Amino acid sequence: MYGPGGFYRRPEGPAGHFRTSVHASPLFARAVARLLCRVDEALGRPAVLDFVDMGAGRGELVTGVLDALPADVAARARGYAVELADRPPGLDARITWLAEPPAAVTGLLFANEWLDNVPVDVAEVDSAGVPRLVLVAQDGTERLGEPVTGAEADWLARWWPLPAEEGLRAEIGLPRDLAWASVVDRVVRGLAVAVDYAHTTATRPPFGTLTGFREGRETAPVPDGSCDITAHVALDACAAAPGATRPAHGTARTLPNTARTPHGAAQEPPTTARALPPAGLLAQRAALHALGITGARPPLALASTDPSAYVRALANAGEAAELTASGGLGDFGWLVQPVGIRDPLT
Ligand SMILES: C[S@@+](CC[C@H](N)C(=O)[O-])C[C@H]1O[C@@H](n2cnc3c(N)ncnc32)[C@H](O)[C@@H]1O
Repeated sequence: MYGPGGFYRRPEGPAGHFRTSVHASPLFARAVARLLCRVDEALGRPAVLDFVDMGAGRGELVTGVLDALPADVAARARGYAVELADRPPGLDARITWLAEPPAAVTGLLFANEWLDNVPVDVAEVDSAGVPRLVLVAQDGTERLGEPVTGAEADWLARWWPLPAEEGLRAEIGLPRDLAWASVVDRVVRGLAVAVDYAHTTATRPPFGTLTGFREGRETAPVPDGSCDITAHVALDACAAAPGATRPAHGTARTLPNTARTPHGAAQEPPTTARALPPAGLLAQRAALHALGITGARPPLALASTDPSAYVRALANAGEAAELTASGGLGDFGWLVQPVGIRDPLT
């Protein structure tokens, strides 16, 4: 996906294949801008306020957030897009394009649908009840490999225990925990938020969620660079990671990702962690409500007093409904990690 000519490096970008909340409505970027303003207040309005769009696609979210900020905040804001693909032509010159997050962030780091693209190993229970790694050929053909051992086995035992029933599957989220801990480590003060398709220990899917996407359709997850390959995120495990597996602040470490992460990255030993307040986990519906997006229809009376305002408000209500829908984007998980400030969503 991330190699030369791979799915995420093509000119059309992710938006050419599927719709995230960012593409669904400009209301999403406006809500994130509101969240950035709350972080700004909690930080005491610093001279420089960072906004980092992690796994930025073509920079759509950071563009929308910078455009939506009030002038006094925009004047102090610095926007970063962190992305493995190249900077798209014509992007707002105010945005800095990077392959890794800045080493020290004071502000808001926001990762919309990034963690589901951080690669995971898949385990499947064999006929003897033993979880084994699933090995995949380039044409997508699968076979079972070695039993899961070491840090990956520990992760399964803690976060996704597999009963000894042939065919059950789990996606081993350890690389995502490490990836999340690594970006949270870059936040000196402020907030880190990850938004994704998520499950928790109470709701793990028995056969996993690994799948592919191409041109708006779900497809077989064939690892030949022709499609997106994604699996839902064990967001509760990620939430626990910054305290448990985070490296000491200031250590230079590259992020685990498809391009660079060897399978063995999961074996990296935990090092000293700074104390962080517990992370919040909530549904996108609740997070967006807290940021003023309700999906409420405008009063009918407005239709006669100001028809064009009524039509605009009705369109906004429709988009808000999509962002907060049950069975859709509203069910996405928000992982909210404050660093040195209170949680600005509560
Ligand atoms: C599903 S897309 C989401 C794009 C955008 N955030 C949105 O919500 O529309 C995931 C993006 O994460 C990028 N990505 C994956 N791993 C990354 C990494 N380690 N560093 C930077 N970008 C990464 C991919 O190239 C892709 O553009």
